[in-house]
Amino acid sequence: MTKPKIIMDVDTGTDDAVALTLAMLGGEVELLGVTTVNGNLELKLTTDNTLRVVDYCGKGDQVKVYSGCEYPLVSTLSPTSAQSLHPIPKREGTKVAFAMHGDHLPLPETNLKPQAKGAVLWLIETIMAAEPGSISIVALGPLTNIATAMRAEPSFASRLKEIVLMGGGDRVCNASPAAEFNIWTDPEAAEIVLQSGCKLSIIPLDATHEAEISASEADELAAIGSKEARFVADVIRGRIGGYSLRDPDLAARQAAPLHDALALCYLLHPECVSKKLEAVCHVDISGGRAYGRTVVDRRANLVSEAPNCTFALGADREWFLQWMSGLLKQAALGS
Ligand code: RIB
Ligand code: CA
Repeated sequence: MTKPKIIMDVDTGTDDAVALTLAMLGGEVELLGVTTVNGNLELKLTTDNTLRVVDYCGKGDQVKVYSGCEYPLVSTLSPTSAQSLHPIPKREGTKVAFAMHGDHLPLPETNLKPQAKGAVLWLIETIMAAEPGSISIVALGPLTNIATAMRAEPSFASRLKEIVLMGGGDRVCNASPAAEFNIWTDPEAAEIVLQSGCKLSIIPLDATHEAEISASEADELAAIGSKEARFVADVIRGRIGGYSLRDPDLAARQAAPLHDALALCYLLHPECVSKKLEAVCHVDISGGRAYGRTVVDRRANLVSEAPNCTFALGADREWFLQWMSGLLKQAALGS
């Protein structure tokens, strides 16, 4: 059976690292390449972290990494926007306002380098050269690279099979009272992608927080014994530590979501999410309090636009855990 061909667009990042590791186990997808973007960290760190994951998984000769956009399209241009505090400014000595994921993943340094060609150019060339409708993108960070490719090559969106993106939130938000981090970081890029006409599935925080993995489950994954399984378990434990500091409920449950890994799982097994809406969804780009919010129109018969996405509102936690565990076990047996 032929495996789905995918490109992963990432801002690695701990949960991106888990998704990448699972994809590189090779059981279920053909990973054509990985593009990196500013997001959880500045671009050079998301790229370095991505290369570290590729190297650690022993895929340096097979999986090429293309470095992409260093800044969001618009959101950091205004000195008064909250986003302008996030990407690390280019000038040496400028203070960093905050960083989400620590700098480097707990993985050895790597000699791997990104490809000379930039991510956006590579995306356009790859998609335009491929059979139409044969490649899907799993987008796990801010949508800057994808939106830029769409603007630069007007038929880019129509040549894709689909985009599955981790981002947005209906009842659950994290970057602001109204918005999820990936969408909030580059709201204009997200709106370009949402209105592109491409088949689109959105895996928001509402779904990923129904698929939290606990510390004892991380121990069970570690017991699989492979270096990939131990790494995934370490990342989960680290995330539980991080979430515990800011969320008393997660601290009590000793569990954490693995947002990006659920989006990869969805591409392969849509049954891992529940309560899906065929929805009209826009991103608030008005610059006010809801800047970066995914606005899902629930007015049923009153909506005049055709749905532009599938929006997941829940997830089957057990299904997701068994999928991860099964993939890691299968790869461990084969190695
Ligand atoms: O809000 C969660 C998302 O933001 C994840 O993709 C995480 O890696 C960060 O990019
Ligand atoms: Ca991410």
